[in-house]
Amino acid sequence: MTPVPDRPVVDLDLDAATSRAASDAAWAAVRATGCPVAWTEHDGGFWVVTGYDEVAAAFRDWERFSSARLYDPDQCAISVSNGTVPLLLPEESDPPEWNDHRRTIATLLSPAASEHLRGRARYWADHYLDRVIARGACDLVDDFTVPVPASVVLEWMGFPRSEWEWFWTAFHGVSAHPNGTPEHRKATEAYADVMTRITEELRDRVRAPRDDALTTIALHEVHGERIAEDVAKSIAFLTVTGGIDTTTSFTGAALLHLSEHPADRTRLLVDADLLPVATEEFLRYYPPARTHARTVRDDTEFAGVTMRRGERVVLSEAAAGRDESAFVDAGTFVVDRDPNRHLAFGVGIHRCPGSHLARVEFTEMVTTVLRRIPDYTIDPAGVEEYPTWSMVGGWRHLPATFTPGAPIAALG
Ligand code: HEM
Repeated sequence: MTPVPDRPVVDLDLDAATSRAASDAAWAAVRATGCPVAWTEHDGGFWVVTGYDEVAAAFRDWERFSSARLYDPDQCAISVSNGTVPLLLPEESDPPEWNDHRRTIATLLSPAASEHLRGRARYWADHYLDRVIARGACDLVDDFTVPVPASVVLEWMGFPRSEWEWFWTAFHGVSAHPNGTPEHRKATEAYADVMTRITEELRDRVRAPRDDALTTIALHEVHGERIAEDVAKSIAFLTVTGGIDTTTSFTGAALLHLSEHPADRTRLLVDADLLPVATEEFLRYYPPARTHARTVRDDTEFAGVTMRRGERVVLSEAAAGRDESAFVDAGTFVVDRDPNRHLAFGVGIHRCPGSHLARVEFTEMVTTVLRRIPDYTIDPAGVEEYPTWSMVGGWRHLPATFTPGAPIAALG
């Protein structure tokens, strides 16, 4: 694409951000240009939106900024670099189709329904900690932040327990291993098997309904007719995708932060009521979803620049969270920051319907760690991050040691 002279240009390569520090630095460099909306030539050229107000405005403006695969059915519409994922509904759709897709999942993940899963989140947090607590050492990723949210979501959806581990290995593996490695290839290939299993389970629920989320999705009706199998498949797939690795990354960030900042850990140990407020600061400062993309529907003026039909636009949750015009001392983690109107769950019609469940899982996991292994320390030398922080950032290994404890006998 030929650069257009009237547009502010920055040198932002999303794939070059191979660590959280590099990603934060890259976004800070874009913000430092003073252009809340700018153009980069990487990845075929796309707009980057970094100002808090501009990111929020673009998220809300679905009429100008489409989430659908408007021009290329094979290119993921909500990412500029990830082209191979199956269609993600309701995320990759616009109204009016979006309304019907979203209704399916909104009730399932309502605040009350999510609160109802708190007991299961606590159970699985204790269960996975029980497996390692006598050892006095574990990998907080493989042993805790991956299996806990995955177990909550896969149990609630109704997948057989014997399959949970390969499901979470696939979803975590896609983020945790560099593109081109055998591990990454294996994880990506497993998506096809996940899709097959989702299809089989949805068909099974149509034949024999049960009390689980897969049944609700399979039997959901729009205007008196059951939704198409392809739509149900896509919604179920996105629910698994959204439900597994994002909360993993969110909790990993908090556990690493508390290991590195003992004063914040002490404050949470002394005052458990602080956790809900601290939760929002973890989300602002370490947003697991770093960016989401959109497509310009028609030529338009936005924040002083001219955008052309079909151009891609990357909205940065990561940059918006560090905008000084929205957050005092935005570059500093303030454990009791309040108010805290971060954009980690997006905003507007696509705002994350899983946000309530994510907070329930997160608070149960952090509370369980602080209650049962309060002196845990993560070895900085063993910390490994995801290989790219373009869309989702997180941790591959967080090796920890702690004073050994006893398993909870009642859990079995
Ligand atoms: C900390 C954890 C999570 C974060 C940071 C997160 C982030 C987000 C963001 C930023 C969006 C908006 C995307 C856009 O506007 O294009 C979103 C949408 C979505 N998320 Fe989450 N999410 C999390 C957890 C979950 C969970 C636990 C689930 C389900 C169990 C879930 C399911 C979804 C779905 C279905 C959508 C699409 C909604 C729509 O398009 O209407 N997410 N998420």
